[in-house]
Amino acid sequence: MTMGIKKVVVIGSGTMGSGIAAHLCNANIPVTLLDLTTEISEKARNRILKSKPPLLLDKSQIENIKVGNINDSFDVVQEADWVVEAVVERIDIKHNIYEKIFKNRKQGAIVSSNTSSIPIKVLSEKLTAEEKKDFCITHFFNPVRYMGLLEIVKNENNDLTKINSLKKFCEVELGKGAIVCNDTPGFLGNRIGVFAMQVAMTEAFKMKLSIEEADAVFGRPMGIPKTGVFGLYDLIGIDLMADVLKSFTKELLDNDPFQEVAKEIPLVKKLIETGYTGRKGKGGFYRMNKTGTNKVIEAINLETGEYSTSQKINIGSDKVDLKSLISREDKFGDYAWSVISKIIKYSSSLVPEITKDFNDIDEAMRLGFNWAKGPFEMLEEIGVENFFNKVEEFQGNEFLENLSKSKNQDFYGSRQKYTEIETLGKVKKKAISMDGNNSAEVYRFKDYNIVEFTTKANALDYDSMDALKKATDKPLIIINESMQFSAGVNLTYIMDFVNKGDFKSIEKFIKYFQETCKHLKYSDHPVISAPSGLTLGGGFEVMVQSNFVASHTNIVVGLVETIVGLIPAGGGCKEMLARWLETEEAKKDPNYASLKVFDIIGYGKTATSTVEAEPMKYLKPEDKKIMNRNSLLDVSLEILNNNKDFKTPSEVKFNLPGKTVLPEMNKILEKLYNDKVILDHGLKVAQELAHVLSGGDTSIDKTLSENDLYNLELDAFMKLIETKETQDRIKYTLSTGKPLIN
Ligand code: NAI
Repeated sequence: MTMGIKKVVVIGSGTMGSGIAAHLCNANIPVTLLDLTTEISEKARNRILKSKPPLLLDKSQIENIKVGNINDSFDVVQEADWVVEAVVERIDIKHNIYEKIFKNRKQGAIVSSNTSSIPIKVLSEKLTAEEKKDFCITHFFNPVRYMGLLEIVKNENNDLTKINSLKKFCEVELGKGAIVCNDTPGFLGNRIGVFAMQVAMTEAFKMKLSIEEADAVFGRPMGIPKTGVFGLYDLIGIDLMADVLKSFTKELLDNDPFQEVAKEIPLVKKLIETGYTGRKGKGGFYRMNKTGTNKVIEAINLETGEYSTSQKINIGSDKVDLKSLISREDKFGDYAWSVISKIIKYSSSLVPEITKDFNDIDEAMRLGFNWAKGPFEMLEEIGVENFFNKVEEFQGNEFLENLSKSKNQDFYGSRQKYTEIETLGKVKKKAISMDGNNSAEVYRFKDYNIVEFTTKANALDYDSMDALKKATDKPLIIINESMQFSAGVNLTYIMDFVNKGDFKSIEKFIKYFQETCKHLKYSDHPVISAPSGLTLGGGFEVMVQSNFVASHTNIVVGLVETIVGLIPAGGGCKEMLARWLETEEAKKDPNYASLKVFDIIGYGKTATSTVEAEPMKYLKPEDKKIMNRNSLLDVSLEILNNNKDFKTPSEVKFNLPGKTVLPEMNKILEKLYNDKVILDHGLKVAQELAHVLSGGDTSIDKTLSENDLYNLELDAFMKLIETKETQDRIKYTLSTGKPLIN
């Protein structure tokens, strides 16, 4: 352990306190959660158990979070190495708590606040100089397990060694991107993030864009999560946002450009007053209109305040390409430029006041708001020359004035300065960019290659496979900086062929997919996958056929093909069989492996963490599991280093039961069918899966090769994709994101 933090007490068991406690539990740190009453903290523990997405890596560890109340259980503070205060945002209450904590804490224990808006000057005003040494702000983001950002704010008396070791602890044990920042309102993330939201909103009003249009631009095309601005407002809560704005307008100087975009908007005020506070209320900018069984999403008209059916806006740009976006000669281009340029101007005007390292601002936006690029990286992408040709008026902005003179396109320098870890972001900058394509980038660094998928949700197609295949001339690391490792094969791509009746091309693609994955597994050089986020279907198949895995603890992993009426055909069935065949049970019972895998793939089971993935054998015990996403590349390199004498593994052989396992599988299906859990097509899909997993026309004493299994997978896949029912399932899921049961 990096620091002597062996026990933690979290005071306040609301949204943040419970999230912090759960995450400490994820790091195997004993934690006690205190609130006004034990009943409240008890309820918090139940919320943790039911949270979606889950806050715990492993729900069975819930007992490691102890609960209590601040009157009877305060003694636990005496044993804690770190006490985190996460009570309501009220200074009087916080001051009282600190008095009590400092009376009881162990000498030298760290005390921190999770405040999002109270300056440390004010929080610590009643502390002695000695107490201030150990006091700081640790500002986590919600949901704590999933948001990478932790802002640490110091006071003038801090023991810096201690702050640094706390930072290290939060980085290594809790996996956070810990950024030390100055004591300014909203610190880094919220100052820029909330400003950006306000600009996106006020410009939409001014430029007369509909909310769907604004969200379609201030979303994926800008490298921002697809909730956009109005969607995000609804998600956070329109009333809560109003409180946040009030706190900013109070704390910031009158001439701060934030004031201009934080002014109360009559329509927003009316929404709050009428209970339209967002998703938790009657609705917000968007609302669900239910008439009978019919559900329609409606959107508000910013001018009239009336709702009508929400329009799907397609601005015809799915890739993040800021240069083309801002130079479009339509309202989308105008809006994008107006919003982006204002965000760049504001962020740069705050350097060095809020931090001297401008790239910390970018990192805060990535880690705290899930932006693909922060404002300075946006400026870099747009191009310095291009930016200054377009931008008007930036007087008094020292950063931009200097840059306009130097016109230095390489102003950015290195990435992710806040961490010593050799991250993918840093390495990419130093690497040679090789021949990438539309779906993936290939980098060469020292004596290894990196493939980074680049499509939406990193869905896979022919080009993705092509990039992988070409990159195996050196040791290869498959890794990326976006949210998902890969959500699987691109179903839109598959459906394009279906719509043309071109099944030959689908077959060709699947074969190429298989060939590539086999090549990954058996090429001369080691292949490492470093997944984070969705690692589903084809994404899982790429990972599982790599020689090594270094996985972020936050993954959602599994074979989900049956849900869209298909079966895994890129080696997923094969690999899962291979893993289950190695068990002791399988050695005794010839049906065991087939039945186990039938259960897992048949239901399309997924694991939501590395811990959950192991019992299903989606991951192996020796796969590396890593809390800090930044470390994925570093750990992958360590694996390469430790495997300098890598030898290509020998091919797996399969002894499968064939027909003799089918009665047992059919019995299961019969019950599901009679109970109407599955319908006609569900039955057909499951029967195809059963055929593959039984080994087809074989018996236990016959040996099958990997190619035999690939062929079984391919045949079943082709049979299913040609059915109207599977096509219906895919179309339905593509348009609604939900499964169709037919
Ligand atoms: P919350 O309202 O969900 O929970 C606050 C909890 O504090 C409640 O369970 C309440 O019973 C408890 N509490 C009140 N007085 C107490 C006392 N004297 N002793 C012990 N417990 C007491 O609040 P939330 O959202 O969890 O916020 C907590 C802190 O985290 C605040 O300072 C807030 O500014 C900050 N924060 C909130 C974020 C969010 O997204 N909600 C994000 C980052 C920071």
